Amino acid sequence: MIVKLPEEEHPHKAFGWGAKSQSGVLSPLKFSRRATGEKDVKLKVLYCGICHSDLHMSKNDFGFSKFPLVPGHEIMGVVTDVGDKVEKFKVGDRVGVGCVVGSCRSCDNCKNDLENYCSQMILTYSGTYYDGTTTQGGFSDIMVTDEHFVVRIPDSIPLDAGAPLLCAGMTVYSPLRYYGLDKPGTHLGVVGLGGLGHMAVKFAKAMGVKVTVISTSPKKKQEAIERLGADSFLISHDQDQMQGATRTLDGIIDTVSAVHPLQPLLSLLKSHGKLVLVGAPEGKPLELPVFPLIMGRKLVGGSITGGMKETQEMFDFAAKHSITADIEVIPMDYVNTAFERLKRADVRYRFVIDIVNTLKSHN
Ligand SMILES: NC(=O)c1ccc[n+]([C@@H]2O[C@H](COP(=O)([O-])OP(=O)(O)OC[C@H]3O[C@@H](n4cnc5c(N)ncnc54)[C@H](OP(=O)(O)O)[C@@H]3O)[C@@H](O)[C@H]2O)c1
Ligand SMILES: [Zn+2]
Ligand SMILES: [Zn+2]
Repeated sequence: MIVKLPEEEHPHKAFGWGAKSQSGVLSPLKFSRRATGEKDVKLKVLYCGICHSDLHMSKNDFGFSKFPLVPGHEIMGVVTDVGDKVEKFKVGDRVGVGCVVGSCRSCDNCKNDLENYCSQMILTYSGTYYDGTTTQGGFSDIMVTDEHFVVRIPDSIPLDAGAPLLCAGMTVYSPLRYYGLDKPGTHLGVVGLGGLGHMAVKFAKAMGVKVTVISTSPKKKQEAIERLGADSFLISHDQDQMQGATRTLDGIIDTVSAVHPLQPLLSLLKSHGKLVLVGAPEGKPLELPVFPLIMGRKLVGGSITGGMKETQEMFDFAAKHSITADIEVIPMDYVNTAFERLKRADVRYRFVIDIVNTLKSHN
């Protein structure tokens, strides 16, 4: 078998920043994109958010990264070309691409608009596309994506502050709906006030839900309440505060990116409460204490991003309620520093790369 270099696999020359090994350090990278197929949309990437998963994947924390790896799955851009059979988009449209770029389209999950749970789901990067090539993400100048996996961005959503909706927003919106934590009067805990966490606060508040943030960072308290609209704030290592809130929550969205104890969180739940894990800690598995579950008929669940129909719904909801992310816009060559800061939970609350103005090709 002849192994082709990523820059020779396809006809469209592409340029981005990627990790060449699991050192996780990103550097400029030439690669290529497939020709625009009949159902494909080609876009010029304008902005791309940085998700903690980009950091995990660049370091091969989950064990399935393929190098070289161009991260980025909060991709906002403008359509520059469409295939002959594309129905939903035309040149000039404002569009987004999130975490998933392919699925079988015929299994029960796909038929029910849950492409994200299809066993053949193809990730935006480090996935294997139908032609056998490795997918590459949005820290790059162009994307070519099947129109089914492209989202229309409402006019009122800016492309920079709207980018994080594609992953961070979707990842918390979907479980709020699915687990019934979206009802006015519900009391929700949000653990970890980073990219996902701050979106959870904003969506839950727009749904009429009461929100308590549970955080390791006392310095985020004032902002969480005054700016993001949270109702209260607990420091997870303050035992008095945690004990004072025992059995007060109907549900928890846990967005923590590292190994952490679940027992204190389960104690915050009322009987029948639900702990929903969306964070994906690397390394050893989390310990699940069983007694708090048995004694309170509590549930532990999970959720990964959202299907395409729900993603469009989430954008419409965000537009209606003027929800966007709080972002720090950075140039492409700041990405390694951004990764370092993300690791230290030092971001308010999402880095977004200004691709169009700062990604400089050296072709
Ligand atoms: N399920 C999915 O579909 C999905 C989608 C996207 C991302 N993820 C995963 O979700 C996680 C969060 O992503 P993100 O982009 O929101 O990351 P992030 O911006 O870094 O936020 C994570 C937050 O977790 C808290 N945290 C960090 N280390 C901690 C520790 N050792 N103990 C307790 N809390 C800690 C921090 O909040 P405080 O400062 O408030 O404590 C931090 O801001 C990552 O693991 C990511 O891979 C999953
Ligand atoms: Zn993500
Ligand atoms: Zn399927």
